[in-house]
Amino acid sequence: MQVQYSSSPLAEIAVDVLIVLGFEGAPPRLDGAVDAAIDDLYGTGEFRGKAQETATIRRPEGFRARAIVLVGGGKADKFGPAEMRTSAAAALRTVKGKGFKSVALGVTGGIATAENVEAAVQGAILGEYEPDFLKTDPTKGERRFQTFTLAAPGVNGVEPAFEKGRVLGESQNFTRDLVNLPSNLLFPMDLARRAEEMAHAAGLECEVLDEPRIRQIGMGSLLAVAQGSSQPPVLIVVRYRPAQPKPEGVHLGLVGKGVTFDSGGISIKPADGMEKMKYDMAGAAAVLGAMRAIAALKPSIPVTAYIPSVENMISGRALRPGDIVTTLNGKTVEVLNTDAEGRLILNDAITYAQRQGCTHLVDAATLTGAIAVSLGGVRAGAFTNNQAFLDRLMAAAREQGERLWQMPLDDDYKDQLKSAFADLPNIGTRYGGAITAAYFLKEFADPTPWVHLDIAGTAWLDEAKPHMAKGPSGIGVRTFVELALRWNA
Ligand code: BES
Ligand code: ZN
Ligand code: ZN
Repeated sequence: MQVQYSSSPLAEIAVDVLIVLGFEGAPPRLDGAVDAAIDDLYGTGEFRGKAQETATIRRPEGFRARAIVLVGGGKADKFGPAEMRTSAAAALRTVKGKGFKSVALGVTGGIATAENVEAAVQGAILGEYEPDFLKTDPTKGERRFQTFTLAAPGVNGVEPAFEKGRVLGESQNFTRDLVNLPSNLLFPMDLARRAEEMAHAAGLECEVLDEPRIRQIGMGSLLAVAQGSSQPPVLIVVRYRPAQPKPEGVHLGLVGKGVTFDSGGISIKPADGMEKMKYDMAGAAAVLGAMRAIAALKPSIPVTAYIPSVENMISGRALRPGDIVTTLNGKTVEVLNTDAEGRLILNDAITYAQRQGCTHLVDAATLTGAIAVSLGGVRAGAFTNNQAFLDRLMAAAREQGERLWQMPLDDDYKDQLKSAFADLPNIGTRYGGAITAAYFLKEFADPTPWVHLDIAGTAWLDEAKPHMAKGPSGIGVRTFVELALRWNA
């Protein structure tokens, strides 16, 4: 879908369908004969302006659009960028598949702010997305929009916000496409190739550390997870460097769990639902999507992505329960469960990022089923060893409408991480499983300021929402980019 901006009056926009928001008790004014039709809809109660409500006015008089679709925005005083994003997304999904080729969304009147323009573009791009690129249905193209126009007539200076929204929406969809790839089409080497392609197109530096190099460096715990698969592991490094770093001395590292398939290994997962484990690289995909956007939006701090990628498989060479591995940092880990593999690959990547000079680290990982038990599919869990850094990241997430919830990390949780034979076991008990997983990572991240996002519950939608297709959500991208952009703010 081609995405463009227009400052022309709504009446002059020649599209198949023009979407306009209508709030409760406040019929929108479009300066034309259609206002009477709108009043009619409000008057009869056919359209009240409630969220998710729609009404269509065909062949609107005085407009070049073939149809106007009113979409309910809910209560005007409760409306902000988050509502703008979901309304725009839901609106596009509503008018999709009806043969319209071109669509416009009017952002006018009191809601025509830079924040709302950014959110509206994001929402339109995210709402239009379908994870169906592997279907061969020849009619597929006809159900999609060819162009989307964000129309903000008479508003000045919102082009940068439009551009930011476009880049973020498209980068989040880039992430969703990666997550949606099944494990037979995305081995660790393929993820590396896709990262290289993205980096090349975006003007970023990309380095792929192959298995011999990983062995030479000494990432024993990453290698241990990879050894059961016929597919070699990689550590993907993508670098963004600003022309003039500000403030100096800051280097943000983004670490993403890139398990292209998680069978559980010898501690094998139940068959039911195992197919979902293709999304165990959603953290990696979020970090790559963020780098794509960062390359375009150019924050003033250096940002580097570190992506350990493996396939967690079973074979005669697979890691066994009871095995003890030596991490890059030197600590030994007793593997009590081969399905707790995320922390085994992340710890080596975290240590490597520290040695490369990162001053602040954020990791994103589909790390535990326990986080979904704690927070459901609504919020991602956020853990930290540095409250000020997490506060900064949570502010960025709030700004971008990504919902996080801080989880505890008291030292008491360390009691669960005792091994008789190694420095650490790789699991605790079943109580507080998301927290002990995070605590394990903290043992490697300290003393670097670090935030861990457990996105296991939020990276994949089991059911479609009015504003979002079923499948990969792309969570994390917007927060990471906003965090980097706001560093000076
Ligand atoms: N990739 C899984 C976590 C996961 C589970 C993600 C469900 C999405 C949905 C992770 O590698 C894992 O298997 N974790 C185990 C840890 C346990 C063995 C301590 C889990 O959550 O069951
Ligand atoms: Zn696992
Ligand atoms: Zn996993």
